[in-house]
Amino acid sequence: MIDTSVTYAGLTLKNPLIVGSCGLTNSIESLKKLESNGAAAVVLKSIFEEQILRQADYEVAEAQKNEFLYSQYSDSLDYIDQYIKEDTIVSYLAFIQQAKKELLIPVIASINCVSSYEWSRFAKRIQDAGADAIELNIFLHASDESDTDFEKTYFDIIAQAKKHLTIPVTVKMTHNFTKLSQSIQAISKTGIKGLVLFNRFNATDIDIETMKVAPKQPYSNPQEYILPLQWIGLNAKKVSCDLVASTGIHSGETAIKQILAGATAVQVVSALYKNGPEYIQTMLQDIEKWMERKGFNYVSQFKGMLSAANNNPAAYERIQFMKYFSQIDK
Ligand SMILES: Cc1cc2nc3c(=O)[nH]c(=O)nc-3n(C[C@H](O)[C@H](O)[C@H](O)COP(=O)(O)O)c2cc1C
Repeated sequence: MIDTSVTYAGLTLKNPLIVGSCGLTNSIESLKKLESNGAAAVVLKSIFEEQILRQADYEVAEAQKNEFLYSQYSDSLDYIDQYIKEDTIVSYLAFIQQAKKELLIPVIASINCVSSYEWSRFAKRIQDAGADAIELNIFLHASDESDTDFEKTYFDIIAQAKKHLTIPVTVKMTHNFTKLSQSIQAISKTGIKGLVLFNRFNATDIDIETMKVAPKQPYSNPQEYILPLQWIGLNAKKVSCDLVASTGIHSGETAIKQILAGATAVQVVSALYKNGPEYIQTMLQDIEKWMERKGFNYVSQFKGMLSAANNNPAAYERIQFMKYFSQIDK
């Protein structure tokens, strides 16, 4: 009997397939379809730090209004009134509550953040709304010349979030670090429960006919799985939290590879946009068939089996490189 269950960030998942944060996790109807097709957990579409801060402004203004002390700022109060109508945070909280009511699988909320500003106080309300965990999508881009201490911002954000939360905090990080392995390991030791490798930035392209800069379509291609595979393999035995592979997981086969490298679970997005929510079933069946063929009853029996456990991963990489190119010369 094949048992595909895994434990991720302290949550029991019936299998290792998590639907990553995207437009497919932005409505109850779509979430239910994902669940009925076998998704083990969902990461809701991110709320942006900027949206939360607008709500913070509003709440401060409300407090001031009540005290009749700040009537001279009526212009800004009008401005804030607009945001009452939007009520972004309130509708996000209501969405979490409803998702929790309608689904049996774990619901992970997501905050897209760029600083450790006071938004983290609002993370507590996300917890109170019933989210099973919070994924911080730390959206710092290597091109941001205003952030002089990229790495420190990560640690500040995590520290702030952890101060306000008791549910598991996970982090979705970029691969744009100078010392990527060291950063993965250091971030994993901050008390977070899971680390998602990696965030995928939507690159821009150039259209040579219109002579304009054009955004590239937002979906990954199936070859991109190599990036998380490599860094999970190199770090799986050296981290203090679960690792989750994200980017380029388009098949049961690539999900298995990530687990062999040391991932606890994988997040899938583009493959579901391309093939529909039913595709989760196909991926799951492929994983189960493979486990059966290889004689594995539990995911733990093969998790991390092919991680680079040696002490000097750089040397390991160099040997692989030399092996490969010496074959090409023959
Ligand atoms: C249409 C679309 C919307 C997305 N929205 C979010 C988001 O709100 N928050 C987030 O953390 N990632 C978001 N992502 C990124 C995905 O969660 C994921 O990291 C990325 O697509 C790589 O995974 P994939 O190769 O399986 O697509 C989005 C991706 C797509 C395609």
